[in-house]
Amino acid sequence: MGEAVVVCRRDELASGEARRFDIGEHRVCVVRIEDDFYAIGDRCSHEDYSLAEGEVWAAERELECPRHGSTFDLTSGEPCSLPATKPVPVYDVALTAAGDVTVVLP
Ligand code: FES
Repeated sequence: MGEAVVVCRRDELASGEARRFDIGEHRVCVVRIEDDFYAIGDRCSHEDYSLAEGEVWAAERELECPRHGSTFDLTSGEPCSLPATKPVPVYDVALTAAGDVTVVLP
């Protein structure tokens, strides 16, 4: 079991927003869709671009890389379209009763 780290308050992220958090050696992209939160690796698996700069596809629960347009499934980290072919990491994310968003690092 990893360490749960508070990354932000719930209301600091709007629905449909993605934001990058650098936590030690981990580069994590946290996405909010309605009141669901997701956390995947921020570094695109194709080239080193920040997925947090990309567009959130709310209905599909995917995040589009801003560079070449691969989308990544927010629950599995798997790419859904080329040119990326490898998954990005997925982190456990939770909302505490106090309204903090936490991410579990491995
Ligand atoms: S850098 Fe993300 S698809 Fe190319």
